Amino acid sequence: MRLSRYFLPLIKELPTDAAIASHRYMLRAGLIRQNAAGIYSWLPLGRRVLGKIEQIVREEQNRAGAVEMLMPTIQSADLWRETGRYEAYGPEMLRITDRHGRHMLYGPTNEDMITDIFRSCVHSYKGLPQMLYHIQWKFRDERRPRFGVMRGREFLMKDAYSFDLTREEARRSYNRQFIAYLNTFARLGLKAVPMRADTGPIGGDLSHEFIILAGTGESEVFCHADLVEMPAPGHVDFDGDLQPLVDARTALYAATDDMYDADEFAKIPQDRRLSARGIEVGHIFYFGDKYSAPMAAAVMDGDGRPVHVKMGSYGIGVSRLVGGIIEASHDDDGIVWPKTVAPFGAGIINLKVGDEQTDKVSRDIYDRLAVAGIDPLYDDTDDRGGVKFSRMDLIGLPYTVTVGPRGLGDGVVEVKTRATGDRQSLPPGAAIRFITGEFA
Ligand SMILES: Nc1ncnc2c1ncn2[C@@H]1O[C@H](COP(=O)(O)OP(=O)(O)O)[C@@H](O)[C@H]1O
Ligand SMILES: [Mg+2]
Repeated sequence: MRLSRYFLPLIKELPTDAAIASHRYMLRAGLIRQNAAGIYSWLPLGRRVLGKIEQIVREEQNRAGAVEMLMPTIQSADLWRETGRYEAYGPEMLRITDRHGRHMLYGPTNEDMITDIFRSCVHSYKGLPQMLYHIQWKFRDERRPRFGVMRGREFLMKDAYSFDLTREEARRSYNRQFIAYLNTFARLGLKAVPMRADTGPIGGDLSHEFIILAGTGESEVFCHADLVEMPAPGHVDFDGDLQPLVDARTALYAATDDMYDADEFAKIPQDRRLSARGIEVGHIFYFGDKYSAPMAAAVMDGDGRPVHVKMGSYGIGVSRLVGGIIEASHDDDGIVWPKTVAPFGAGIINLKVGDEQTDKVSRDIYDRLAVAGIDPLYDDTDDRGGVKFSRMDLIGLPYTVTVGPRGLGDGVVEVKTRATGDRQSLPPGAAIRFITGEFA
């Protein structure tokens, strides 16, 4: 992409409510633009990051055996009346009346709808287990939308739903999502800690929140420090027994404030006790027949008896993650994107646009990085060098290649690694090899 033809509206004047780094940088670097309280447009740079996160979430869901579908944002109130949630959900639900006077709503979550789809399609235990997901916009009329996309009213969520015949089998589905979550967050460059959590309005009796530690997080959390450094499981056999992997990560104490137990926390050796603030990036629930019973979602078991299916639901805040990743990875100059989600893999700064040689070398580097799949952003504007450097730092691409007449006089360009600030002078070919090697 050539910057001169891109849409990258950087802003300097920040609203006073932009209180945390991710919110400020997302506005300044032209990732988002607020349209109404808690409602944002995703500008081209932000859209790219959102898409990359979405794709990693999708790949890990698929690996865990979940099957993608897409449900609508607008739902009929009737389904929610069946479960009693239409009244119970309260003022967070955006209620809509259509031209025929029918009650509709903008979905805050999809348990009721997926249960309806399931009950009309699956009637035998032979159709189990099932695990379905979609990545779709949600609306919750939050009392206090704040921190940009972290607590929006409209936000993008991956929500998955599992259906099993027995509690034991449902536990296996829960474990598959549990492991998939750890791998997902690790690929996003995050250290997410699973913590025992309250089930809230979703209900149920088993629940974990996945929390990344950040001083600006909204949740207060308590855990054993070793959990933070525990590596993600990586490639596992999702058809095998995942319980030992889950047990290894739930044996140490970790809880959010609504589940906090001072006595349990005090049992952690003093120097390993961690009480901190965190950002909830995912939340998984097992709730048995909480929806399948009132909605009569039953299958015939092996003896021909109807059994209410045992269900779980599994959410990841895809749009919140954009803010969460920035909270975890930024400095005074701007965002520092992990390679896996960076909007472009590398930037190219041409310090003397119009100069035959810098133009030619810049274009050549651009073409070769593009062919290698690095997806470069080429700053071919006639802005001053200082403007170009600070803009690249602000938008946080992992690598920047600077091409200027002075360096080219010595046959070199400069490669800067955003995360470390390291600069190397390399011939163009070596610069390309270095960057492509870093992404290999
Ligand atoms: N208002 C919001 N803005 C952005 N992301 C949200 C919001 N509410 C929830 N999420 C994301 O969706 C995930 C699943 O939501 P859920 O646990 O059902 O909601 P909550 O924790 O707010 O009751 C959360 O872990 C979080 O990452
Ligand atoms: Mg939650």
